[in-house]
Amino acid sequence: MTADQWTLVDEYLEEKLVPADPVLAEVLRSSAAAGLPDIQVSPTQGKLLHLLAKTLGARRVLEIGTLGGYSTIWLARALPPDGKVVTLEFEPKHAEVARANLRRAGLQDRVELRLGTALETLPKLLAEKRGPFDLFFLDADKANTLAYFEWSLKLSRPGSLIVVDNVVRKGRLVEASSREPDVRGMRDFLDALVSDTRVSATGIQTVGRKGYDGFVLARVTEAPAGNVA
Ligand code: SAH
Ligand code: DHB
Ligand code: MG
Repeated sequence: MTADQWTLVDEYLEEKLVPADPVLAEVLRSSAAAGLPDIQVSPTQGKLLHLLAKTLGARRVLEIGTLGGYSTIWLARALPPDGKVVTLEFEPKHAEVARANLRRAGLQDRVELRLGTALETLPKLLAEKRGPFDLFFLDADKANTLAYFEWSLKLSRPGSLIVVDNVVRKGRLVEASSREPDVRGMRDFLDALVSDTRVSATGIQTVGRKGYDGFVLARVTEAPAGNVA
């Protein structure tokens, strides 16, 4: 099995299961034209986020790491008209491209994009009593994943789902002595997860057009102390 074959299979699954969408195609085109990195979720992963949001009956979604808004659009399209995605981004250029893309998708009223570092915005959301969120997508700087997870718990309710992207990083996750910040970040996150009685979690490896990676799904089982729910 080669990475080329993973991509071919992804393309086949996209053709079968993810209908061609001129808005999403234009979102990817405009993001690339603006020089944004090509690291958004794949189409089948975007649809997974969409299906999870639908299955949960999510009304409030919190995304950390917007980029050009590709995953944001998949999530926002799963919500009822009065639903809201709050998405956090600290690069002004990414935020500007995302805002244009969200307008293009007609979702500007269903998405609130907050510019700033996530660790500054998260306490503000709590102070504004913006939770509880039904679904979280943690997809920003990997080194801070544990902190984002802890903030997500504070903004959650029992039954909320926390999805964490890019946990496996080509298998580097198992390199216990790695000093790479993204690997350390994910290992610290998993160390905390295993001993956390407030969540029930699993990790899934993935291959496809984005190479070899994986994600964690964590379901909040019990209201943490200080929770907004
Ligand atoms: N979720 C997007 C991809 C996000 S890429 C998608 O799948 O379509 C990660 C994003 O997180 C980048 O845009 C980056 O600028 C942003 N980011 C990185 N560190 C951040 C931080 N500390 N606070 C907020 N955003 C951050
Ligand atoms: C990177 C970030 C992501 O969120 C992702 O899904 C893939 C790659 C990166 O920073 O390289
Ligand atoms: Mg990612």
